[in-house]
Amino acid sequence: MTDISNDILVHTDSGVMTITLNRLARKNSITAAMYDLLADALDSANHDVAVRAVVIQGHETIFSAGNDIGDFLNKPPATPDAPVFRFLRGLSSFPKPIIASVCGPAVGIGTTMLLHCDLVYAGDNAAFSMPFVNLGLCPEAASSFLAAQLMGYPRAAEALLLGEPFMAETALDMGLINRIVPPAEANALAQRQALKLAAKPITSLMETKRLMKKGNAGMVAERMAEEGASFGRMLQEPAAREAFTAFMEKRKPDFSAL
Ligand code: COA
Repeated sequence: MTDISNDILVHTDSGVMTITLNRLARKNSITAAMYDLLADALDSANHDVAVRAVVIQGHETIFSAGNDIGDFLNKPPATPDAPVFRFLRGLSSFPKPIIASVCGPAVGIGTTMLLHCDLVYAGDNAAFSMPFVNLGLCPEAASSFLAAQLMGYPRAAEALLLGEPFMAETALDMGLINRIVPPAEANALAQRQALKLAAKPITSLMETKRLMKKGNAGMVAERMAEEGASFGRMLQEPAAREAFTAFMEKRKPDFSAL
């Protein structure tokens, strides 16, 4: 059995829970077992009064390559209680402030999870992408709703239909991130901002976040469920099978017959 205990590091200090994606050999791609650990960490942060803010970070060279493709092929998330959906529900409804620090590639859920964070700091090497169509899939994490709301429809359509990466400057212009810093400084900045938040009254932070998110909450939950059903079904279909097999075989996918 694979030991995943170091793939997600969780550390709490001075009111801040820091969750680190730490599977560098696989570019911080995320398996079902890792989604379970992420969901457990958020659940514990939610219920622990000692946690007043959360930081999600990767390495200064890579945030996340998104879902682990082999794991997805072997264990597709077929039902709403699948670990990836459990994590996304926990993240989207998380009541305390969440800060993300993003450097290097942030692929798929590496980008869509940011739509649910309150503050996002990026290294100048950050490259965001939502290549769901290129993988024979559809958006997840309510990104089919939130991306258009944040960036406007034309830019969301470009990001979601073409699925090409966009860099930190574009992400800043779109409103996806708060600030760009040298990669070696991103995690430290996220930590400083989290400590500032942790020193504020938690009841005010939570009520402010609840009020700011209230208008979207119902739509986000509804869209996430609908996307999840389509995503789970499409994972089993020929286009996704071809895209994922091509990735494993290190070749370009051939969708000409699909
Ligand atoms: N799932 C499983 N393995 C992955 C992975 C993923 N999402 N992303 C990368 N890896 C593996 C590679 O297969 C490679 O394994 P190998 O050393 O056995 O050949 C290793 O991680 C290093 O990846 P590599 O592609 O060589 O690194 P890179 O620095 O050239 O590129 C990325 C980094 C993230 C841009 C590139 O790996 C990538 O595009 N990954 C796929 C992203 C994706 O489509 N995610 C799914 C979203 S739903």
